[in-house]
Amino acid sequence: MAARQAPQGRAFSARIVAWQARHGRHDLPWQGTRDAYRIWVSEIMLQQTQVAAVIGYYARFLDRFPDVRALAAADLDHVMQSWSGLGYYSRARNLHRAAQTVMHVHGGKFPDSPEALAALPGIGRSTAAAIACFAYGRRAAILDGNVKRVLARQFGVAGYPGSGPVEARLWRLAEEQLPQKSVEGYTQGLMDLGATLCVRGVPACSRCPVADTCVALRTGRTASLPERKPARAIPHKQCVMPIIRDRSAVLLHKRAPTGIWGGLLCLPECADMAAARSFCEALGGDWAARRELAPVEHGFTHYRLTIRPLEVRLERKAGLVADTTGHWLMLGEAAAAALPAPVKKILVGIAAQSPAPAARTGPAARPRTGAKRRAG
Ligand code: ADE
Repeated sequence: MAARQAPQGRAFSARIVAWQARHGRHDLPWQGTRDAYRIWVSEIMLQQTQVAAVIGYYARFLDRFPDVRALAAADLDHVMQSWSGLGYYSRARNLHRAAQTVMHVHGGKFPDSPEALAALPGIGRSTAAAIACFAYGRRAAILDGNVKRVLARQFGVAGYPGSGPVEARLWRLAEEQLPQKSVEGYTQGLMDLGATLCVRGVPACSRCPVADTCVALRTGRTASLPERKPARAIPHKQCVMPIIRDRSAVLLHKRAPTGIWGGLLCLPECADMAAARSFCEALGGDWAARRELAPVEHGFTHYRLTIRPLEVRLERKAGLVADTTGHWLMLGEAAAAALPAPVKKILVGIAAQSPAPAARTGPAARPRTGAKRRAG
């Protein structure tokens, strides 16, 4: 794609470079050095963390591990300690491993090509380009989150930047816009623009050096570009939960320790109506007199569950069988019991419709564990 020229004919990159020289950041602790080690540490810390949060950690880290040899020789626990509070701890583990690779494979000197840098643990394509650019003046394109936002707006790139084809298009644009000279000023300028003016939310377009060629600004899409990650299609599951009732008591069971609601008391869960019928009839439930209640929706992180509650009363007196998972609960106690939220909702709803419990003489008179009725 051809680079879009500003009305006055100045290339995108030239305006970024000029703006950076005047308005960009020049006194960050990792600027003004060509030491690849120091630049590398800063780029890794800045991967998921903002400049203001990094500055203090950066100084302390370099005090403790002043060069790649010191870092490679350090105990991983000490490295993790110095990282503690910065988050995303795989970065610290990778930093330590990469330092050892630099010592053992590259003789203690950081490689200067983006490709060799990207082969080190924890260094992706954009970070490799930033290190190669700032440490060695190499001409390589970066594309971190801020730069994706700048380019998506400037060139009107629709779609979620994390998706393969959109990201590939942004990389092409990043490469095309890279100037022949002043790559460091350009790279720092893109970072500075994304961090200070072309921010998420409301960008400061009136101060932007490339506002007059910005497609998003011209088409009123600064708020919608770059596009957000599309919501994942969440799977939908269904189950039937029989509410086996003996007057004011309902039969619960303890769930397996793992999986959803692990270890909690819950209504029995059946895959479908046929399974619920077998289950209820085996326990002596009056299937013909069953009553389907309104379904209850419940959202988990990975799926949505529709519960179909099904009230079934016990048909006849049945003997008890020992069952470590069985537990009769008085409906009036449901509100205070430790139950999964949708199960509590179902039982509290039934309790509200039911008359106060009559005194009971049978086994369901009190909640009890280890009691389950046997069919017939
Ligand atoms: N974010 C990532 N790298 C950066 C750098 N070198 N300066 C400022 N912010 C950054």
